[in-house]
Amino acid sequence: EKDKELIRGSWESLGKNKVPHGVVMFSRLFELDPELLTLFHYTTNCGSTQDCLSSPEFLEHITKVMLVIDAAVSHLDDLPSLEDFLLNLGRKHQAVGVNTQSFAEVGESLLYMLQCSLGQAYTAPLRQAWLNLYSIVVAAMSQGWAK
Ligand code: HEM
Repeated sequence: EKDKELIRGSWESLGKNKVPHGVVMFSRLFELDPELLTLFHYTTNCGSTQDCLSSPEFLEHITKVMLVIDAAVSHLDDLPSLEDFLLNLGRKHQAVGVNTQSFAEVGESLLYMLQCSLGQAYTAPLRQAWLNLYSIVVAAMSQGWAK
């Protein structure tokens, strides 16, 4: 219950500004693993990572990611209801060439974004609460790779 409060409280302000926070998260992700950028077919003809990150399709993916996080936060009491959706989402990512190993870097990028935007409010218990939620989401998405 404490976890849920921490997550809801921290997402309240973040969730109002999804795109800029998502950009921070994905900038970090491509710093950790530039190869991931190539999985977005529409980024083939953008010059720099920065250009890619500001392309409309890319910002749209960022919006989609943030909406999934938003859904997870609003279903904290009922996460199993998202399982089918997340399994299918995993399947789609398998199809575009994402590897489940990349989820570790995605998680790190999520925490990086939270740390950047929450400052002092980014505490050890808050970090752990988000890690717990993230691991549930990843476990459900990973089902999409199972044969
Ligand atoms: C779709 C890549 C992580 C949510 C896509 C697409 C690509 C992609 C190439 C299809 C094109 C598009 O819709 O823009 C990646 C990569 C990731 C990543 C490389 C990191 C390794 C995530 C995460 C989430 C997410 C963490 C949410 C938790 C979505 C959604 C769609 C999507 C909702 C649309 C699926 C649909 O069309 O129904 N992703 N993605 N992605 N992604 Fe990701």
